[in-house]
Amino acid sequence: MAKMKTVHRCTECGAESPVWAGRCDGCGEWNTLVEELDGRDAAAATLPPSSEPLPMVDIADDASAARSTGVGEVDRVLGGGLVAGSVTLVGGEPGIGKSTLLLQLVGAAAEEGSRCLYVSGEESVGQVRSRAGRLGAVHPNVWLVAETVVPHIRTHLDQVKPDIVVVDSVQTLHDPDLSSAPGSVSQVREGAHSMAQYAKQHGTAVLLVGHVTKEGTLAGPRVLEHVVDTVLEFDGDRHHGLRLLRASKHRFGPTTEVGLLQMEEAGLAAVHDPSGLFLSDRVAGVSGSAIVPTVDGNRPLLIEVQALVAQSQLANPRRSAQGLDQGRLAMLLAVLERRCGLTVMGSDVYALAVGGARITDPGADAGVALAVASSLTGHPLADDLVVVGEVGLGGELRHVGHLARRLKEAARMGFRRAIVPGATSEAPDGLEVLRAPTLAAAISLADVGAH
Ligand code: TYD
Ligand code: MG
Repeated sequence: MAKMKTVHRCTECGAESPVWAGRCDGCGEWNTLVEELDGRDAAAATLPPSSEPLPMVDIADDASAARSTGVGEVDRVLGGGLVAGSVTLVGGEPGIGKSTLLLQLVGAAAEEGSRCLYVSGEESVGQVRSRAGRLGAVHPNVWLVAETVVPHIRTHLDQVKPDIVVVDSVQTLHDPDLSSAPGSVSQVREGAHSMAQYAKQHGTAVLLVGHVTKEGTLAGPRVLEHVVDTVLEFDGDRHHGLRLLRASKHRFGPTTEVGLLQMEEAGLAAVHDPSGLFLSDRVAGVSGSAIVPTVDGNRPLLIEVQALVAQSQLANPRRSAQGLDQGRLAMLLAVLERRCGLTVMGSDVYALAVGGARITDPGADAGVALAVASSLTGHPLADDLVVVGEVGLGGELRHVGHLARRLKEAARMGFRRAIVPGATSEAPDGLEVLRAPTLAAAISLADVGAH
């Protein structure tokens, strides 16, 4: 095969250079030149076949053609399943369970009648086979190959002609026509491009595994997000079993659903009662704990928030937030001090969401603040109480979305009372609502202030 010409292109301005340079001639930026194959431009020079405008009513709806993956939680996040010809990037930290999830997925999809090819770039076929055995993913319609060379993968695809192909991982893809090292931005991008091209031409659903660095970016500076149709983020606390699957980009549906899975001996299992899971280790009657009915996507989740206020030996007291936003915690401490008369600014404050949960919902503000107040004064919140509301800088408690759904979940889990923002009109069955217009009022309703 003739070696393809490569060029170096600036990721900022798009200027081309035949050789690599530290600085782009076009825009003067440093370290922006990335090697890519020149072949694509050559192909573009001969006109591609033209498309034909059609009345919209005559065009098939791609999303409605989604096919179940056989893994319920993945289908939930994708809004039904995988669309033929689509490219999905599954990102997550090393060790979080991406290979496990996708191996289970090909097993389940094969069971549903799809032909699947699993391309492993990191593990030998023997290793993958033995894991697949434990996961129940061994099926005659699942093909397996250990391969990292892109042109070879294209050959395997032509041979197997799968409905679904998994490439684990995109960082191992390597095209010998590029001089850059495997794992470099150029290699990752060109590899993904090649897979995307194949997907569109053959209607194969492509799943690319991408390792995400600690800072949360996909190695290969987010270059892939533009190439793919869907980006799924798989995360969770590696030391806890719970795993969350979310779509951060999805061309075929909403990005609001969250999939909940638990890593067990035999792989990942759907979590049917997440609130029960989060509350299972709860010890009643301890100060510094509050139960918050959050919503993640459309899913209500009861999560325990804990805080510990300790005397500080430091000039700048320590603030630690785990599974909660650090800046939000700092703001809540300031509001507690200035609007509620509690002295916390000079103390070390630790706050966390129990069970490896990660809360981004502002409705958790009031719960975090009450947990801090409770730890400070030593008065625990009542066992049958949940707290919901966003805290404003004026110390007011603000209304939050999905209140009915949150409170219904609290009632289902056996809670009897809920502190809610003052403006709330909804009051569900089986739950007594205590309206608090301000955080100070919530503190007194929960009886966690200084006595
Ligand atoms: P893995 O899927 O290899 O992670 P990734 O591909 O994201 O790097 O899974 C990592 C961990 O999951 C591994 O350390 C062990 C654990 N695990 C289980 O607990 N049970 C199982 O059945 C499997 C397959 C893995
Ligand atoms: Mg892996």
